[in-house]
Amino acid sequence: MAIPLRTLFFTFVLAPWVFSASGMQYYKRTQYTQEDVQLSEEVNLESKKSKREAETQENFEKLLPADAPGDSGPSPLEADASDLPTCLLCVCLTGSVYCEEVVPEMTTVPALPKESAYLYARYNKIKKLTAKDFGDIVTLKRIDLTGNIISEIEDGAFSKLVLLEELTLAENQLVKLPMLPAKLTSFNANHNRLNSKGIKANSFKKLTGLVNLYLAHNELEAVPQIPESVRILHLQNNNISTVNADTFCKGSDNYYIRPNMNEIRMDGNPVMLAQYPNSFTCLKALPIGRYH
Ligand SMILES: *[C@@H]1O[C@H](CO)[C@@H](O)[C@H](O)[C@H]1NC(C)=O
Repeated sequence: MAIPLRTLFFTFVLAPWVFSASGMQYYKRTQYTQEDVQLSEEVNLESKKSKREAETQENFEKLLPADAPGDSGPSPLEADASDLPTCLLCVCLTGSVYCEEVVPEMTTVPALPKESAYLYARYNKIKKLTAKDFGDIVTLKRIDLTGNIISEIEDGAFSKLVLLEELTLAENQLVKLPMLPAKLTSFNANHNRLNSKGIKANSFKKLTGLVNLYLAHNELEAVPQIPESVRILHLQNNNISTVNADTFCKGSDNYYIRPNMNEIRMDGNPVMLAQYPNSFTCLKALPIGRYH
């Protein structure tokens, strides 16, 4: 009797418990897949970064004369970043250049390998972008310069980049914008010091493929002209105090419906949106912001 009982115990109690526990795990796995992907991307970047650091260190060691161990000369780590080849400072991988938080300090855009398509140069000390920086790298599709100290961009800096689709200049010190290339689909200048004088009337108007426009946390006093292709517009935390019938809609045309636009953020501005009911009649969704 003892053995069948144990078998019964296994069949009806233990086995279902084990299977349901693994089912639970499966459920949890699928639930967290999204997060896992993100995490593994971060881990991947981290490991690239430490690999890069190790490689850089190794290369520095190679550069040091062998017969001067721990010599008193200037450490190569104190050298200026611009003296070193880009792919020694940064990680270069099939068309992508990763230069994040580069040591020694990076104060200018590094010389990019021919045919670079993606540049990530976040969290460095780049101050200025010149017309020569991206000069002939017309293959660039994405540039991310988040978290530098850029306060000046020469007007021609991006003008040759006919393939550029995503440009991120968030967390810099820009007061005005340069000319932007026509193919952009996403432009991010959140957290700068942009004012309305620094944005020309046609800055965005001619970007007919623009989908995402992020200008939050600046000092804008008016809504710039927005092309019809835009879906997401972030203007929160600026100094916008009015909107009018032409800002988003076409003042006199009551039948006009603005296509695409489905998210406008205007919270954190002095404007009281309830005062301008006729300014939103063409929109599919009301702007997010202050109504009372
Ligand atoms: C916001 O705009 C008002 C004028 O509408 C101006 O007096 C004020 O200085 C601006 N504030 C900032 C922080 O730019």
